[in-house]
Amino acid sequence: MNVEQIIEQCISEGKFIYSIFTTPRKKSENPYKKITARAIEIKEEKVIQLEKYTETKVFHENLKYENAGEIIFELIKNEYRNINLFTEDSDYQLIVSKKGSIKMIEKEPSKQLLLMEHNKKKQYIINEGEPCSFLVELGVMNQEGLVYAKKYDKFKQINKFLEIVDDSLRDSKLSDNFMIIDFGCGKAYLTFALYHYFYNVRNMKVRIIGLDLKEDVIEFCNETSKKLGYKNLEFKIGDIKDFVYKSKVDMIVTLHACDNATDAALLKAINWNTDIILSVPCCQHEFYNKIENENLEPMLKHGLIKERMSSLVTDSLRSLFLETKGYKVQLLEFISMEHTPKNILIKAIKTNKETSKAKHQYEEFKKFWNLENLFIERGDINR
Ligand SMILES: C[S@@+](CC[C@H](N)C(=O)[O-])C[C@H]1O[C@@H](n2cnc3c(N)ncnc32)[C@H](O)[C@@H]1O
Repeated sequence: MNVEQIIEQCISEGKFIYSIFTTPRKKSENPYKKITARAIEIKEEKVIQLEKYTETKVFHENLKYENAGEIIFELIKNEYRNINLFTEDSDYQLIVSKKGSIKMIEKEPSKQLLLMEHNKKKQYIINEGEPCSFLVELGVMNQEGLVYAKKYDKFKQINKFLEIVDDSLRDSKLSDNFMIIDFGCGKAYLTFALYHYFYNVRNMKVRIIGLDLKEDVIEFCNETSKKLGYKNLEFKIGDIKDFVYKSKVDMIVTLHACDNATDAALLKAINWNTDIILSVPCCQHEFYNKIENENLEPMLKHGLIKERMSSLVTDSLRSLFLETKGYKVQLLEFISMEHTPKNILIKAIKTNKETSKAKHQYEEFKKFWNLENLFIERGDINR
């Protein structure tokens, strides 16, 4: 492999640790006599931090981890003549001639543990560096447990979700028959994560069903589950509103199930008296066409604002609706806003809460927005 390929690979596999660039090629044009590049984590985001040294000062610049490869290679190709590059796989010494050819000396890696020590890594439920079979199978991490740079956001999302699950179960009575349904499971990263969490972290033999409309996706999930040897995990093809289950369901999960599919899932859970609901809604169209309020016309006349407002009103109303059914509801930020605006997680826990205040608020709120004949009330679902 040449230097460019080595850099590309170590960034894409999340194996870049540290690099030092010295001896500038054009001293008169380059104010920085030395630059270092270090992989660190800032606010749970993996970045590469450059420290640029002039004679008297140090300047810092943070690069998006996935985009850093090109900039690092540019520093090698055009800016500096002595470079030390440390990756999880090897140490490299690079010497660039005046004409630009690169001599490379490769050595055994000396800084394998440096990344973890320097980053004060957050302790997740699934930690980087600990191979986790379903994440390896789904291409999130390699056999050594290193998370691929492209999949780092997914890795964090999975952990964040498991933290919320862990927290939601705090007051629950758990037994091996605990039944979970993931509605609109898609490729099922989170369904497999749930399985891993219960079986491998909590040592509980729960039962899980993942449901989705897409035949090919369900086939893929069942094959993956078989490969992993996951028992009591089943994937089924079907529409949420038509799904019938006759025994107790303890927890339902819906993550980005489109439009009214979320409402159908909430209704199922309410009808089943499900104890725990974790739902991140997705696109919402129903209210967009119905929502009206004369005083808020200056806002609602803008399509973009109307769309965001409709989503917020929808989720507020869904939460209130769950409260009218005796659930204690909390809205949590699921993933950071910069990744997706669809990041509100509705956490609803069944209690014996008094519901009259919620019922009154629900009716008043609907009147305020001129909303009626809502899907969640009509409940056009099979029971
Ligand atoms: C955006 S994906 C999310 C997948 C997964 N939950 C995740 O968070 O990665 C939404 C999934 O919901 C499924 N879906 C949408 N409407 C559905 C319905 N009415 N019944 C079952 N699945 C549905 C889609 O087929 C799709 O796979």
